[in-house]
Amino acid sequence: MKLLVLNGPNLNLLGSRETDIYGTGTLADLEASLRSEFADVDFAFEQSGHEGSLIDALHEAASRRFDGIVFNPAGYSHTSVALRDAVAAIDVPVVEVHISNVYARERFRHVSRTAAAAVGVISGLGMAGYALAVRYLLVHGARS
Ligand code: DQA
Repeated sequence: MKLLVLNGPNLNLLGSRETDIYGTGTLADLEASLRSEFADVDFAFEQSGHEGSLIDALHEAASRRFDGIVFNPAGYSHTSVALRDAVAAIDVPVVEVHISNVYARERFRHVSRTAAAAVGVISGLGMAGYALAVRYLLVHGARS
């Protein structure tokens, strides 16, 4: 099972960024904990602050026949038609994850343009949301 964990803008700053909202865990901590919890999964981890790079990463995951993608599009969730189209364009199941509960925050975060193209969304469960998304994909991923 090959899974991509893809993180969008500003998530490289996890650990120091708005720790009251996002906690103190870093992306490196997330990678280490997923690799240790799911030792049999062949993971790729990518992060970019650039919309086009995220689109390229989604396309590439499809052409490299990944079984699933755990995607936190971060701020682009609320704005990006192009990312939504990229999620819809590929035949790889995408689970959207938000660390914070976007519905308990500002109104502009209540709408995700990418969510409708994803198979589902996990929001507000902290870093645990990523592991829950992996668990889902282990059962429902493309080639599971
Ligand atoms: C986020 C929520 C978004 O609204 C925000 O722009 C982020 C992170 C989350 O993981 O809670 O950057 O996707």
